[in-house]
Amino acid sequence: MNTSDVQTQKRRYGIVGNCEGLNHAVDIALQVAKTDLSVLITGESGVGKEIIPRIIHDNSLRKTKKYFAVNCGSIPEGTIDSELFGHEKGAFTGAIGEREGYFGAANGGTLFLDEVGELPLATQARLLRVLETGEYIRVGSSDVRKTDVRIVAATNVNMAQAIRDGRFREDLYYRLNTIPIKMPSLRERGDDVVLLFKKFAMDTAEKYNMPDPVELTPEAQEKLKRYSWPGNVRQLKNVTEQISILSPERVITPGILAEYIPDDPVSHDIVPLNNKRNETHSFENERELLYKILFDLRNDVTELKKLVHSRQAAGHDAAAVPVSPVDGGRPVAYYHPDVAFPVSRVSKADEEFQMPEEYVEETVSLNDVEKQMIIKALERNKGKRRKAAQELNISERTLYRKIKEYGLDKDNV
Ligand SMILES: Nc1ncnc2c1ncn2[C@@H]1O[C@H](COP(=O)(O)OP(=O)(O)OP(=O)(O)O)[C@@H](O)[C@H]1O
Ligand SMILES: [Mg+2]
Repeated sequence: MNTSDVQTQKRRYGIVGNCEGLNHAVDIALQVAKTDLSVLITGESGVGKEIIPRIIHDNSLRKTKKYFAVNCGSIPEGTIDSELFGHEKGAFTGAIGEREGYFGAANGGTLFLDEVGELPLATQARLLRVLETGEYIRVGSSDVRKTDVRIVAATNVNMAQAIRDGRFREDLYYRLNTIPIKMPSLRERGDDVVLLFKKFAMDTAEKYNMPDPVELTPEAQEKLKRYSWPGNVRQLKNVTEQISILSPERVITPGILAEYIPDDPVSHDIVPLNNKRNETHSFENERELLYKILFDLRNDVTELKKLVHSRQAAGHDAAAVPVSPVDGGRPVAYYHPDVAFPVSRVSKADEEFQMPEEYVEETVSLNDVEKQMIIKALERNKGKRRKAAQELNISERTLYRKIKEYGLDKDNV
């Protein structure tokens, strides 16, 4: 890595931070800038992906040519092809004049396709063609046109999952991902979070003519570093601006900080839900931890049902059972406030525990969550079912039944 080049670029673009992951991302951007290879930038929302294509373009041989940034997620499906590839006059209702489209306009330059994971499948096919042959056709035309555009794309969606779900073409993914650049999440950046706080505090003080920027006590710095920052740098920027503007105290303690950062579902601050289970392994990422929470909730509900049934059988009034996950008579167990994705379907066995209407959302099914948890547990325990069952806190028999139910025995997991 050419450290001084990386530092120069960071200064030039106001990029703050010195962690390895960030420096590596900038370094790769510089190395590939002079080539025409496609680059795919990945990373969670708010990590700073949008600066990388700019660095690539400005350091490339195309720097004097056009640079366009197109947010694929914000263009309606009906018009995206015409925006990207152009259209002929009268190609569709409302097409009064012709349109060149970004691929024509950016000829010789760079096109940044932001949120590329949101592209409709039909557009993906057109994009693949232009990437492979440099050829494209305007909407409503049959003429093949040529263009020479360097593509840099970015996404915060899990592309492997999008491919599995049939939402993204695998061939296009490989074509875009010739050079992958991964932007690290803020929680992976160690001390950078404090540097970024200082930068945003100074920027805000300057912007609003405040005499002194806010400062963090050493304890508050630690708290900042331990927080999980689900919204990454964007969230930190907002929080710092809020504190700078709203806090009468200029020296920020952990207590003051706590008023501005929401409770952390996966902070290192919180005690794991079940220590015994977490001793045996660590969860690789937040998503898995959230799956784990859902998995545990499902088991809790099953237990709860058994309790209700046994009391009903014994002649008790089920509604009067003093069980905790019931809020005003409404079962809340399926919806955990710390879990970002509400759960949609319930299995046959759970039908009598249907969720209230407002919680039913088509996002992820409880069965999928359970299946994933089982696959992961089996993988982690190298297929040893007894250990996997222990880790999942279910009986071996239940695990056997579920493996069969989900057809996992056929996959030789
Ligand atoms: N290292 C950094 N130094 C200074 N500012 C940063 C840094 N990283 C990100 N930012 C700022 O954080 C904000 C979010 O960055 P950006 O818009 O690039 O995120 P993103 O990765 O594109 O997120 P999304 O996937 O949600 O679009 C911007 O205001 C950006 O300037
Ligand atoms: Mg973005």
